[in-house]
Amino acid sequence: MARHALFALLLGLGVTLAMPAGVADQGVAPNNDEYYELYKVLVDTIDQVDRNYVQNLSRREIVDAAIQGILEKLDPYSSYISPEEMTRFRDDVEHKFGGIGIQISMENGRLVVLSPLVGSPAYRAGLRAGDHIVSIEGESTEGITIDDAVKQLKGDAGTDVTLSVRHSGSSDPEEVTLTREVVAVETVLGDSRKPSDDWDWMLDRESGMGYIRLTAFSRETASDLRRALNELEDEGLNGLIIDLRFNPGGLLTSAIEICDMFIEEGRIVSTQGRNTPERTWEAKSPGTYSGFPMAILVNRYSASASEILSACLQDHDRAIVVGERTWGKGSVQNVVELEGGTSALKLTTASYQRPSGHNIHRFPDATEDDEWGVMPNDDYLIKFSPEEMRQLVLTRRDRDIVVYHGEEGEEAVAEEEESSDTEPSDTDDGEDSEDGEVTEEEEVDITFVDRQLEAAVEYIRSQLAGEASDDDFVIRRILTIESTCDETAAAVINERLEVLGATVATQHELHERFTGVVPEIASRAHVERILPVIDESLRQAGITLAEIDAVAVANTPGLAGSLLVGLSAAKALSVALDVPLLAINHLQAHIYACQMSASENVFPCVGLIVSGGHTSLYRCDDPLDFTLLGATIDDAAGEAFDKVASMLGLGYPGGPAIEKAAQAGDPKAYRLPRAMLNGEGGLDFSFSGLKTAVRYKIAPPGNVEFNQLSLEANEVANLAASFQEAVVDVLARKAKKALKESKLTTLCVGGGVAANAALRQRLTSDAKAAGHTLHIAPPSLCTDNAVMGAIAIERLKGGMTESLELDIVPGPVRR
Ligand code: KG4
Ligand code: ZN
Repeated sequence: MARHALFALLLGLGVTLAMPAGVADQGVAPNNDEYYELYKVLVDTIDQVDRNYVQNLSRREIVDAAIQGILEKLDPYSSYISPEEMTRFRDDVEHKFGGIGIQISMENGRLVVLSPLVGSPAYRAGLRAGDHIVSIEGESTEGITIDDAVKQLKGDAGTDVTLSVRHSGSSDPEEVTLTREVVAVETVLGDSRKPSDDWDWMLDRESGMGYIRLTAFSRETASDLRRALNELEDEGLNGLIIDLRFNPGGLLTSAIEICDMFIEEGRIVSTQGRNTPERTWEAKSPGTYSGFPMAILVNRYSASASEILSACLQDHDRAIVVGERTWGKGSVQNVVELEGGTSALKLTTASYQRPSGHNIHRFPDATEDDEWGVMPNDDYLIKFSPEEMRQLVLTRRDRDIVVYHGEEGEEAVAEEEESSDTEPSDTDDGEDSEDGEVTEEEEVDITFVDRQLEAAVEYIRSQLAGEASDDDFVIRRILTIESTCDETAAAVINERLEVLGATVATQHELHERFTGVVPEIASRAHVERILPVIDESLRQAGITLAEIDAVAVANTPGLAGSLLVGLSAAKALSVALDVPLLAINHLQAHIYACQMSASENVFPCVGLIVSGGHTSLYRCDDPLDFTLLGATIDDAAGEAFDKVASMLGLGYPGGPAIEKAAQAGDPKAYRLPRAMLNGEGGLDFSFSGLKTAVRYKIAPPGNVEFNQLSLEANEVANLAASFQEAVVDVLARKAKKALKESKLTTLCVGGGVAANAALRQRLTSDAKAAGHTLHIAPPSLCTDNAVMGAIAIERLKGGMTESLELDIVPGPVRR
């Protein structure tokens, strides 16, 4: 048997493990009779084919075929390297195979430079992407194949090769003589390049977010990565994204060394083979890069060494994994020389285990439900469609463009250097499509969003934000804006729900003579008042706009024109200040007004909203989870107050006027209907019948000019009191029913009508009698205001920010 020599370099893309020779030698098959019996069958078969088969095959062919046959039975990662392939490998390694450092491609039958490698002989000589290589060593390249061209360009390091090159844009070819070098393929890449063509490792300099892409795990990868990390640390590294998408793996030793850079201690990985003892690698603390959050990007083509790195950092909670489930290659291959090195076996000899013990390897019969590969962390599984996958490759290639800085300052564009063909990956390898007309630039979709990268960035940002508030006690301040109906309001509130400033500009005087809100007048008034109201709130808070950390706006429900004024202002501020935009549901905010004055958490609760536009009951499990239980099917309670007040000649807004008039009246003077009680209507309300009943108490059927009527003062007082009593009775009884049905014991009440003293008294005595907890917003927070918009802080904490697509959702909420 041949000696087992290992040459990891040859493997390139399979994980290798240096196996002690002594141990490996024990792997020779057992010396027993059965073994020789079986072996004889194989020898006899070869002998029969050799002597008697109808066609003449060389012995070499037969033996090669026999070996191929055996290996076919094994996993897809085990293979036979024939003497022919072996020669190629050998040349590559032993002769320090040199090149000039370009990627080439065929375009319209011409040999062209796809990309120079930064720093290579070709790069230094000024070869650029798109250059046409007319001849190599005086021989025309017309009709040449890529393979032949590669053969002619490569050669021993230190030897020369002369090319005739026509630069794109010029007509005369230029002769260039280049000295071949050993060109190391870059495996550590950044997001974009600096003017010097070196990588800029920072993705976002302001926050100190680094981005490093590993395309393979080669001998140089770990040291190159260390250099990049040192540069990043000098520039103020606060968070790191490592992109392993499409990385097919490489050397086990490289993966281990890189894991060790990020964890202080504990298991990195262990391997176990049939004939090799279990080996475990532990992290050592010197040289660890720590103290910053990390995210690792993977996709379905991230394999072997990529899986070791992502699994290790995930198991140690050092990084979160973002993207897709990885390839699932949990095995280690050795290259074992045969016949003294004439041929070789690439053989799977061991499997590896991640620290958590979860299985990585995807066996041929594995299903989606089985455990294999590395799964992204919860909420970070983001699958790409085939088109997204293609766009990712194309846009990455564009980002990797090497800008040529010639002596005359000319600029040219070169394309990405790709490390090599990848084992599992079958993506575009940079070679031209058969259709030479289509250039890649045209295919790039400039609107493509790398959702996986965005999620990683978001994660790092949230970690940095969290750290900042823990470490530096930064309490975020939000500006809230309210313009849903006829009040223009703004407030500045901090995360602890402390109100730093609050302003409300009412428009009552503008709508008074119409005894109701006129939408067009309301929106015009908002336009005039919104900026002064914001300014006044900031002034009260003693801060400038620059000190605002988020902007929140009520975008539903309400009058369309009014809502738009607030939304536009909020969007403009969000963009100008570069702070998050948050949405406020005006009805939910009315309930949250209770939280603003409560000393304890008011959730979960039944929420009763009684305002000018709404009368609704909600089940409020928490500030982000409201379920509608019932709502008015016609008029809202406040609207009924306003209409009845108008009929009684009491002015606008009607609520406070009726409350005042009712003080002198007898609530039992008139019997008025209470709709939808006694079982019908569930938790819904109806107030239009009550309003009509009052109308007929005032005057008999027929046309009535209410402002011409002269009602007795005590009659007005009695009608106001009886009406108010009916509304209060219905609201109190429906609230009681909602509490009973929802089995909740807390009632929160908000909205303009909740300012009504009779309602407050009734609800207070009901709660006392039933033993329920009652929270009614303080009167100043019952009618529309921006303080109740503090509910947006809950969304800010939950990361529920809005894009600039945020729209208004006008109109009342009705059943
Ligand atoms: O919540 P709000 O300010 O605006 C809307 O979101 O609709 O509520 C305004 C309504 C008006 O209909 C007003 O008449 C009523 O609340 N309102 C009152 C009282 N104060 C305001 N209704 C009864 N009694 C009050 N004291
Ligand atoms: Zn309101």
